[in-house]
Amino acid sequence: MVSTNKEELLISLQDLCNLFNVEDDIKIEHKETILGNKITNEFIYESNSITHSYSWTYDIDKSLSELRKKSLRKRKAANGLYQVLSTELNKTLPWGSLTGVRPTKLARDLIEYGEMKEYLVAEILEKDYFVSKDKAELVASILKNQKCIIRNDNLVDIYINIPICPTRCIYCSFISSELERVKNKIDEYINAVIKEINAVKDIIKNKAYIVRTIYIGGGTPSVLNNNQLDRLLSEINFPVSEFTVECGRADTITEEKLDILKKHNVTRISINPQTFCEATLKRIGRKQKNNEVLEAYSKALVRDFQVNMDFIAGLPGEKLGIFKRTIKTALELYPNNITIHTLSVKNGAELKSHQQMIESRDVFKMVDFAEKTLVENGYKPYYLYRQKNQLSGLENVGYFRDNNICMFNIDSMEETNTIIGIGANAISKRVYNLEHKIEREANVKFIEEYIARIDELIERKKQFYK
Ligand SMILES: C[S@@+](CC[C@H](N)C(=O)[O-])C[C@H]1O[C@@H](n2cnc3c(N)ncnc32)[C@H](O)[C@@H]1O
Ligand code: SF4
Repeated sequence: MVSTNKEELLISLQDLCNLFNVEDDIKIEHKETILGNKITNEFIYESNSITHSYSWTYDIDKSLSELRKKSLRKRKAANGLYQVLSTELNKTLPWGSLTGVRPTKLARDLIEYGEMKEYLVAEILEKDYFVSKDKAELVASILKNQKCIIRNDNLVDIYINIPICPTRCIYCSFISSELERVKNKIDEYINAVIKEINAVKDIIKNKAYIVRTIYIGGGTPSVLNNNQLDRLLSEINFPVSEFTVECGRADTITEEKLDILKKHNVTRISINPQTFCEATLKRIGRKQKNNEVLEAYSKALVRDFQVNMDFIAGLPGEKLGIFKRTIKTALELYPNNITIHTLSVKNGAELKSHQQMIESRDVFKMVDFAEKTLVENGYKPYYLYRQKNQLSGLENVGYFRDNNICMFNIDSMEETNTIIGIGANAISKRVYNLEHKIEREANVKFIEEYIARIDELIERKKQFYK
């Protein structure tokens, strides 16, 4: 496949080859040479005894920080490889040469570093990064809808992770344990989480942080029983206007649980249908019925919760027609937020066979249909991210209506604010706005280890936020 003389460029070059579905018998050799302020990227492409060579040279501004230089070198090498593959394979990608970077974050960085004017976002993404016109315009409109970002080192979000689910959905790429396997450990897990919450309260007090939003995610936090939920929420008493709890699986939602959430000032929940096709739900091992989703939704509306709903394009066995029906039903329900994910398949081999099964044109059309229909019906796109192995190299996009943005989604995707992560597998981020620096620290992944090492994790957290 691809080789390079610069180890640090290998992953992004490999990711690009994967997006192009480069066959194993194609060999690409990359070489980067640096001479003064001139950098040259050379590529040798070999397939079936054909050999083609390509080369590009550019100037690098010596006054740039090391971080900016590294990111520029990565982008230039990826741009070179994109042009090679696009010429040789006669193919383009929706996100052009962009891999391993959130397109909106890249655009914001370029604007903030003075390398691009905001009104030129779409044009530059198209011209310099080979992003398709539609996607480049999508990034530009998302940036316009993210004006609520406030860059301030004292403003923080709190994320609490409950990585437990009633059962496991076969497509899921998140770390989460099945309830049956961990049910005897949940009380202990909640105790440990409460211990960490209390340590975080001290950190917040000492640093005079202002909490902007709280998000309890997972997994499926609504899998906790009434007592566990009440105990956990009783410890969270920051005065915020956005407090979200993921209740993704409708089969975990009851009136009592919703009342407990309301009692503790939760403002927003997610109820995630993924699809309204029950045959697909069965195929993907998601034990949930459409009437459970509808009932949970009306119970949430009665209690005045804002509701986020997630859907996935490209689920096994789904054709465009089924997906369109799902989106039309979603519009009839008219939740405050809708996020359209493109299926991400866990490994490369599975991805290839799945790509063949579901015509990639269909996934493009699904994502396109969702965007056009949602926008026509008053929704606006406000956050976007890409994962590895998403079908046809597509993306996930969140839409809101009537100013009902879920601010936490923006903060976590754009990395503009500090996030204090609590619980197993939670990641904390500390953002230093002036220095353009982000530090990250992850808690241990699994709940058993989290319970066993809670005191040490709390010590680490105190050091991290010192
Ligand atoms: C962290 S998950 C938790 C949500 C909740 N447990 C649920 O399933 O409703 C958030 C969202 O990621 C999306 N997701 C999970 N696995 C995915 C995959 N392999 N490809 C695309 N989207 C995925 C689903 O739409 C899901 O609602
Ligand atoms: S319920 Fe959500 S987090 Fe849990 S396995 Fe299914 S998709 Fe993944």
